[in-house]
Amino acid sequence: MQVVTKVSDLREYVKKAKRGGKTIGFVPTMGYFHQGHLSLMQKARKVCDEVIISIFVNPLQFGPNEDLKDYPQDMGEDLKKAKKVGVDLVFAPQIKEMYPEGFSTYVEVSGNLTSTLCGRSRPLFFKGVTTVVAKLFELVRPDKAFFGQKDYQQLKVIEKMVKELNMDIEIVSLPIVREKDGLALSSRNTYLNKEERKRALVLYNSLSLAKELIKSGEEKARKVKKEMEKLIKPKGEIDYIAIANPETLKEVEGIKGKVLVALAVKIGKARLIDNMII
Ligand code: PAJ
Repeated sequence: MQVVTKVSDLREYVKKAKRGGKTIGFVPTMGYFHQGHLSLMQKARKVCDEVIISIFVNPLQFGPNEDLKDYPQDMGEDLKKAKKVGVDLVFAPQIKEMYPEGFSTYVEVSGNLTSTLCGRSRPLFFKGVTTVVAKLFELVRPDKAFFGQKDYQQLKVIEKMVKELNMDIEIVSLPIVREKDGLALSSRNTYLNKEERKRALVLYNSLSLAKELIKSGEEKARKVKKEMEKLIKPKGEIDYIAIANPETLKEVEGIKGKVLVALAVKIGKARLIDNMII
């Protein structure tokens, strides 16, 4: 497994792979790997000749009062895990390498898809994500790129960007990997102390409750959200609970067919997100 930090070295590697007619699978990450990240790499390993991943805590997608400074990192462990999965190349640039002095070019998906749900409390987030992912796509020129459904809105935003900028990349999405008790794996779970870890289960439990209610015929989104809220309020601070069309992310009032139930809740200092398609 090769590790490079320079754009020029990454370019060189990609050129060679392309010349050799190899297909490239790409997994962008911010590191601090857990099985959610590894499941994406494992899938890429199965279906592509070359597997390239990036580890880059992207400052552009953090707001001024968010956790950029505290975001967990462990490059040593990450490299061990990536190697075990059979990753071919890790791109781990410094901030200056991605955003040199004076950088001022952005890629933004505008409209409802980015202004709703997480976009409401994190107005800069998706612009930061699409800018860095577009840059990484341009560098890696992958055939397929792998994303987790854990960040469902991010996945939809990236799919839209790829389609509308005519990027010749297949976006492959994979299911949420959870702990045994249901908590979705997240690098941010490391912020939780023992007591908070217990409370954090309320995200999954409230989604399970929503599923039960909807499966047993509840059609009013308002009622489902109210029940979820009752469950969550004693355990955490709700950022949002939304029931939406899984493609447009427009919130619905009447539940017919498939819906996305998504939420963000603060437990201690950790802002956690989770979702379920029901
Ligand atoms: P990060 O949070 O490191 O996540 C990298 C990828 O892992 C994303 O596609 C995310 O959806 C996926 N992932 C995280 N937890 C998961 C879980 N429990 N199950 C399945 N997949 C999971 O998302 C980002 O980084 C950044 O925004 C990035 C796209 C790299 C741009 O900076």
